[in-house]
Amino acid sequence: VDSVDEDCDYLFKAVLIGDSGVGKSNLLSRFSKGEFRLDSKPTIGVEFAYRNIKVGDRLVKAQIWDTAGQERFRAITSSYYRGALGSILVYDITRRKSFENVEKWLRELREYGNSDMVIVLVGNKLDLSHSREVTEEEGRNFAEAEGICFMETSALENVNVDRLFLDMISKIH
Ligand code: GTP
Ligand code: MG
Repeated sequence: VDSVDEDCDYLFKAVLIGDSGVGKSNLLSRFSKGEFRLDSKPTIGVEFAYRNIKVGDRLVKAQIWDTAGQERFRAITSSYYRGALGSILVYDITRRKSFENVEKWLRELREYGNSDMVIVLVGNKLDLSHSREVTEEEGRNFAEAEGICFMETSALENVNVDRLFLDMISKIH
């Protein structure tokens, strides 16, 4: 953890990963700006956003990196993970395939990421639970077996988005 400037005690980096279209960029824009877009475009390369958060009596600057789920738009993997203390692995509860691919993302995470990284598995689009293809229990059981955290969210309805980021940050600090 790096010390930064006088208005901030700590800076830390976390990364978002998961299939294209699961809602990574919207989770981040919801958390960092309170914004959501139904017509958002696929991410190309790498983007990031900051938010300052009070954790106990410290001010933490969270730098969250977001990259393309689509292979052809992805930037070099090792630099994306370098220095990251937290990772949010997102799937779409209405798209089974995105849940099946979680294993592939975990392998990549474990290959390139820090071994003591805090990992949260996130089932997003909870507002579409009428067309759910992955039960909450499946998500939770998978996460438990892998020894990682779990949460379901909706970037659209702003359900559990702050909690997701704040829980991850408090686990790091
Ligand atoms: P890539 O950048 O291609 O990897 O995709 P992404 O994971 O960043 O997905 P993005 O945030 O661009 O969202 C893809 C689509 O899903 C957009 O149409 C969003 O509006 C929609 N979406 C994202 N989150 C939610 C959600 O919680 N509920 C619903 N109903 N739609 C969502
Ligand atoms: Mg994106």
